[in-house]
Amino acid sequence: MDADSMKREAAQRALQFVEDGMIVGLGTGSSAAQFIDLLGEKVSDGLNITGVATSAATERQARAAGITLTTLDEEPEIDLNDDGAHDIHQSHTLIKGGGCALLRENIVESASEMVVFISDHSKLVERLGAFPLPVEVEPFGYK
Ligand code: A5P
Repeated sequence: MDADSMKREAAQRALQFVEDGMIVGLGTGSSAAQFIDLLGEKVSDGLNITGVATSAATERQARAAGITLTTLDEEPEIDLNDDGAHDIHQSHTLIKGGGCALLRENIVESASEMVVFISDHSKLVERLGAFPLPVEVEPFGYK
């Protein structure tokens, strides 16, 4: 199975954790995008959830998929966050932020009751963090 198919399948499984009425954190990157795509289909079928986006790109995709969005200032407690990972170690530790949404992703994850990572085998590494991590300064979630 190729990486994109694995991401799609992982996203499909992550969808099983979504329940009606939830506040759902929406991650950034190609894996999270698969999840948002599938979540949008569920919303079209009548699922009632509200999303919190971790980047401007995710915000655009979620709106286009018909997902209602809110902010962390309005909904500081997120039921479920779904996101991708950059590197995953066999000890089940991982690192994020390679897609430059590090700050927002981490703030949303900290505010989440449950976090589900969507990923494929290509993310498994011997050593975490063998890539430059971005540094961000922005007003999102400062309250
Ligand atoms: C965004 O800043 C990153 O944390 C991504 O979530 C991570 O790099 C995974 O990206 P892909 O799903 O595109 O591999």
